[in-house]
Amino acid sequence: MPDDGPDPLPDPSALPWPVPGFRRAVVHAPLAGPFVVGPTTAVRTAPELTAAAATWKRQTEDATGLTLGWETDDARDDRPTVSFVLDATVAPGGYTLRTGADAVVVTASDVAGAHAGAQTLRQLAGPRAFRRAPVDGTPLTVPGGLSANDDPAHEWRGVLLDVARHFLPKHDVLRFVELAAAHHLNVVQLHLTDDQGWRFESRRYPRLTEVGSWRRESGVGTWRAGVFDGRPHGGFYTQDDLREVVAHARAHGVTVVPEIDVPGHVEAAVAAYPELGTRKQPHEVRTTWGISTEVLDPSEETLAFFRDVLDEVMDVFDAPYVALGGDEVPIALWRANPDIVRRAADLGLDDVADLHGSFLGSLARHVVAGGRRPVVWDEAFRPGHDTLPRETVVTAWRGWTVGLQAMAAGHDVVMAPEQAVYLDHRAGDGPDEPVPVGFLHTLRDVHRFEPLPAGALAEAGVTDPGALPGKLLGAQAELWTEHLDSARRLDYAAFPRLAAFADVVWTGQPVDERDTDAFVERLERDHLPRLAAVGVEFRPLAGPHPWQTRPGVAGHPRDLAAELAAGGFGGVGGWVEDSSGVRTNEVGG
Ligand code: ACM
Repeated sequence: MPDDGPDPLPDPSALPWPVPGFRRAVVHAPLAGPFVVGPTTAVRTAPELTAAAATWKRQTEDATGLTLGWETDDARDDRPTVSFVLDATVAPGGYTLRTGADAVVVTASDVAGAHAGAQTLRQLAGPRAFRRAPVDGTPLTVPGGLSANDDPAHEWRGVLLDVARHFLPKHDVLRFVELAAAHHLNVVQLHLTDDQGWRFESRRYPRLTEVGSWRRESGVGTWRAGVFDGRPHGGFYTQDDLREVVAHARAHGVTVVPEIDVPGHVEAAVAAYPELGTRKQPHEVRTTWGISTEVLDPSEETLAFFRDVLDEVMDVFDAPYVALGGDEVPIALWRANPDIVRRAADLGLDDVADLHGSFLGSLARHVVAGGRRPVVWDEAFRPGHDTLPRETVVTAWRGWTVGLQAMAAGHDVVMAPEQAVYLDHRAGDGPDEPVPVGFLHTLRDVHRFEPLPAGALAEAGVTDPGALPGKLLGAQAELWTEHLDSARRLDYAAFPRLAAFADVVWTGQPVDERDTDAFVERLERDHLPRLAAVGVEFRPLAGPHPWQTRPGVAGHPRDLAAELAAGGFGGVGGWVEDSSGVRTNEVGG
């Protein structure tokens, strides 16, 4: 090679093999130098892809301190250019990326694909591309001679953020959305309401936030320990705050799916409006964790109330989906209430338990009438007693089997099994793990997650899931926040495991072809430095920093192997109500 020749090619494995990775192909052509982002660099975009191009430009301007040129037409000049080109032949949600010394070209057939391409491009420029301001005079560079074709395996690549148990300030929600986008995740389900707090401003029912948005104190560690902090906790988002979150997410290619959880998980709403409850008694916002027996009175009046709330929700959120909850609904208070038992009979229901499905079915039809698709947790779907409109998406959290049953009944499904992708569950089994609850989900475990594992298919007797009338939309990781009481604690639980989840749901690589060692190597070498540059306080691969531990705060670990041995795929996970309506298999720390 002549002395003045191009730099030798980087070894492809030394690429910041993106997290998620390139699915289709990555090719290196020799003799192309790096693309240097400099003062004359311009961004050119097809109008349809503007949001992605503008986000890449803004992020790059922050990181470099430069002001880049901007063109939305086809004008050609000799400036080095990053172009976002519309190309109908690229797979939906996917992109191609070509890099050379003078030009970088991202092509996509839709803005979602352009967002993914933009985020890959940002990754390729290294950790400094993730900072908000330049830290030295060295320009950002993108390796040249790269040609990649990449597209997602799943259309729903989601993460649930529980802002009800612990309120997350708006600033941190915006940051979390950016981090989701940086990992090619495209759905953030915002769990806005629960027993311990109501976070959505309703103008029609202001007591929901006046009363329901804060609690007197909080449990510290598992509820079983009975320890409280004596410190009020609260917060809520105004409708404008949420419109801002929605718009910010859209600018990053992320859809925010709002969740209003009914008819269980409602103590905050019942505290605000006791007439919504079965007992019509004064009530306080719940201060402890675990599953509450206080559920809504499933009356016409309650339905009308929540239809009003959902109208406000649909006004603020533009997502095609609205989540209605439906998980963990003990019915002991319904059974004990003669009026409610009579109402079930008047509605022609076989049992008072069927009020669960009929209540959610009614709200789901309201959401459909509003032009959106309802999303429910899987308990709302009862095989053989399904009252949900067909448009309803079922999120399977208690395991894969119920998800397959919902697909067989014609519902589209998002797989979110707590056995695999609950990221509030403990990331390690060492003594230093902070407030260790739930199953052990190590980074490597999460990277072995399968949205449709062979064991679940076999148990459900399904040989061709593609032939079921409902389809697999994708998968979702969950971040419940009973024990994630700050943005720092959330970072620790989410990262880097969310990167492993993102890798899996983007690439769709069969588990027996997945190279988890290589993933971990890339993560450590290329991706953790990016997260560090953002300021993410991730869990180090070797375990928590001393300041990330919570000595003396009790968790409640569960043993997945033991539960699997006892129950198989269908019998593990979630909460099972016994005949008296009392929980027997309680989750939630
Ligand atoms: C859930 O974890 N209760 C959906």
